[in-house]
Amino acid sequence: MSRRAQFLEVLGIPTEWVPRERKDALAEAVPEMAAVQAALPAVEAPVAETAVPVAAALADPVETVPAPVAPPVARAPVAPSLVPASPEPGSAQADREAGIAAMEWPALDAAVAGCTACGLCQTRTNTVFGVGDRQAEWMLVGEAPGENEDLQGEPFVGQAGKLLDNMLGALGLARGRNVFIANVLKCRPPGNRNPEPEEVAQCEPFLRRQIALLKPKVIVVLGRFAAQSLLRTTTPIGKLRGTVHTYEGIPVVVTYHPAYLLRTLTDKARAWEDLCLAREVHDRAGAGA
Ligand code: URA
Repeated sequence: MSRRAQFLEVLGIPTEWVPRERKDALAEAVPEMAAVQAALPAVEAPVAETAVPVAAALADPVETVPAPVAPPVARAPVAPSLVPASPEPGSAQADREAGIAAMEWPALDAAVAGCTACGLCQTRTNTVFGVGDRQAEWMLVGEAPGENEDLQGEPFVGQAGKLLDNMLGALGLARGRNVFIANVLKCRPPGNRNPEPEEVAQCEPFLRRQIALLKPKVIVVLGRFAAQSLLRTTTPIGKLRGTVHTYEGIPVVVTYHPAYLLRTLTDKARAWEDLCLAREVHDRAGAGA
């Protein structure tokens, strides 16, 4: 079975019908998508004239279709609430961030485990540092630990994590093998509420250092919150998808959060497009796996 077929199967969409008008409207609304769609073979709908089966329209880009790498979008408007203010030079926070920026993996691990920089340390069970190969060429970044992750100290171990593992498998990757998975926040926000800007400000230096140590060939950002935090923007996720962004010179591809995909059938095929784009970016970077 091809990787595409495998992927669509794990997502539960062997055949999904999308009105042709919607496909066109999407390309119009998100101009970068037009380039991705242009790379897909034109498929005539076998039954309905106005519909194209996504499963058929998506040729196996991993194996056969050279997905184009669009240029980075212009930096979108900055969201003041998401952007951690730069600390005053010489302040305690500036010193803390400089210290984190100089840490190697063991020290960083220990710093996260003992962190008390925000109130989340009072409600967490475990910190969730991240998991995987520290030489990985792929990095996945989610939002924050949920209940299961807080209990087990590992990211994406609940239902959404199972889907994520299947998505990785369809890409020829596996948790712990050439992929590192982390979150923007290392502690669970109580009741899974949205992270507060101050929590992001305190935690972001850890993620920044993880990325600097890992030096992945590609970062795949999962969901609106992580995408907007990492890219420092308020642009909606639908517009961040389909384009290659950069973080500290590393290519970033945005896709939907697996928990969202569990609920939203229609966006699952788009997630596959995103992963194909990420695969293309990775492979163009001259990387191995
Ligand atoms: N959602 C996330 O964003 N991260 C996790 O680790 C689990 C669920």
